Amino acid sequence: MFENLPGFRDFPPEACARRNHLFRVFRTVARAFHFSEYDAPILEPLDLYVEKSGEEIVGQLFHFEDKGGRRVALRPELTPTLARMVAAKANALPKPIKWYNIGEHFRYERPQKGRGRSFYQFNADLLGETNLQADAELIALLVGIFETLGLSSKDFKIRLSDRTTWVLFLNNIGITEEQRPAVLDCIDKSERRKPEQTLEVLEKILPGKSEEIFSEVNKIKEINSLDSLKVRLSNCGKDGENRSDEWSSLLQSLEGHGIEDCIKIDLSIVRGLAYYTGFVYEAFEASGEGRALAGGGRYDHLVKKLSGNVDVPAAGFAIGDMTLSDCLESKGLLPNYVTAPDLYLLCGPEDKILGLPIIARCRKAGFSVSHSLKHAAFGKQFKEAGKSGARFGLILGEDELSKDEIKIKDFRSGNEKTVTQKNLIAELENFDESGGIS
Ligand code: HAM
Repeated sequence: MFENLPGFRDFPPEACARRNHLFRVFRTVARAFHFSEYDAPILEPLDLYVEKSGEEIVGQLFHFEDKGGRRVALRPELTPTLARMVAAKANALPKPIKWYNIGEHFRYERPQKGRGRSFYQFNADLLGETNLQADAELIALLVGIFETLGLSSKDFKIRLSDRTTWVLFLNNIGITEEQRPAVLDCIDKSERRKPEQTLEVLEKILPGKSEEIFSEVNKIKEINSLDSLKVRLSNCGKDGENRSDEWSSLLQSLEGHGIEDCIKIDLSIVRGLAYYTGFVYEAFEASGEGRALAGGGRYDHLVKKLSGNVDVPAAGFAIGDMTLSDCLESKGLLPNYVTAPDLYLLCGPEDKILGLPIIARCRKAGFSVSHSLKHAAFGKQFKEAGKSGARFGLILGEDELSKDEIKIKDFRSGNEKTVTQKNLIAELENFDESGGIS
């Protein structure tokens, strides 16, 4: 007996239907925001991720050498692929580029609740626009998806932070540009580490200064209101003032979208991925429990970094299917799985050959039709029809066959109606509207 690999999931029909429910909502809401769906390869050159994605993800790559000696990796995320695709066609693409994708991703991490080695993400990205309206549009799309799935601002919060603000604050406490990436990475991981471990890492980056910087960083992480942000930014010169205005402008736009109740300023978010340059955010259940439902932000330099010469500003986010399904499940927001066919055809085993063309006509007309695949007696077929949950039975007995008729039985009310085979579809469509046979 083989089992599936750790961190990989099977999707039997019920699980698949639940997953597809998410995918349907992703597509519907993305369309409402006028985003276009795109797709990309699952296997990429390993180098696409090294140095671009941040150490954590690179350490989690599924990678190998292919038969042609190429070093390749299963994609752990989509953003570098998207940046590569956009760089290749940047001049030909009308701006802004508003693209979304639903696809599978792979990270070799310890499987646990909400975390797998294979998972799906909905990615939405907006490229070619530096205006903060783009960031607001993306956050509104994220909220729109959660709301369409039945969640409200009481159920989830988007924790909003800003890499630019962090850079200003780190400059202010004497962190150099070279030390910055390691310090930001350490701050990101500090949420999941004991303080002693964070201090130990900081000491390696900033020998002799770790305690002082640790205490400053903790003060910054506690900032959770526009007022306290503005006070601290006012100590960062002209750049600080400008960023203060940009914070106000973004928050105003979010208010305009009517989603201010879903947003919480929270500087403890810095994001683990190395490419972010501006506003960043993560969505969590309002209780604060569990891992992130989604994460994203602005990454204005990634396209240039990957292409060498094409400069396209960008922002985006991804929602993961695992934490989101867990959250919806716990609130009873996943729809029941319905497998029942619309119709079940019953006929004498020797008459199947006359029944099959009727089944085919019904299917072409858009009905879901089932029937017994065995030579079963009528009684047995009725039992199977009942088990299937079909709303209507189509009965082809000797009487009906002799007159080119067919009997429609409403399994819910028990009522029956005999119609000509010719008129069957029209009659069924009629029932469909009125809901049954009276
Ligand atoms: P991320 O924060 O690494 O961002 O992942 C986004 C979401 O994917 C997470 O919030 C989580 O729900 C889900 N996720 C990540 N890793 C796993 C895992 N091992 N198992 C289950 N779910 C997981 C990114 O991937 C960025 N590329 C998002 C982005 C798009 N930024 C700009 N555009």
